[in-house]
Amino acid sequence: MKIGIGSDHGGYNLKELLKDYLREKAGIEVEDYGTFDSRSVDYPDFALKVARAVASGEVDRGILCCGTGIGVAITANKVPGVRAAVCSDTFSARMSREHNDANILCLGERVVGPGLALEILKVWLESEFEGGRHKRRVDKIPAVERQYIEGESVQ
Ligand code: RB5
Repeated sequence: MKIGIGSDHGGYNLKELLKDYLREKAGIEVEDYGTFDSRSVDYPDFALKVARAVASGEVDRGILCCGTGIGVAITANKVPGVRAAVCSDTFSARMSREHNDANILCLGERVVGPGLALEILKVWLESEFEGGRHKRRVDKIPAVERQYIEGESVQ
């Protein structure tokens, strides 16, 4: 599995921590899309890079960090094919994989401490999509995207 990771300045320290864990402890290949220091930047720029990488298949899954995880999630979810979930607890992390097939995990450095963030990441990585009735639901999401992309009638 290859993971794309990114953050703004508000999530920079957490991104570095998670990147080191993935590379050194989990042995997972990681592509870092920035930011590369703690100077102030705009979170949509980095969320878009990771979201595009996930949507194109350049990486298998993504991780995005900002102060709350919210700004990067809002941005990433604008890219068709992306299912980005903000998780601040391990139950949500597991459900986001098992029920929603989330392909980007969003975390807030100002919300969760480093220990909890690592637990959330581990649970998210080991949880698998359950398919079945959840696949039927997830499969309806691209139809929603198409309504707006192609100007299909919205009911
Ligand atoms: C940056 O100050 C902060 O607004 C950003 O990291 C994030 O929390 C936005 O959602």
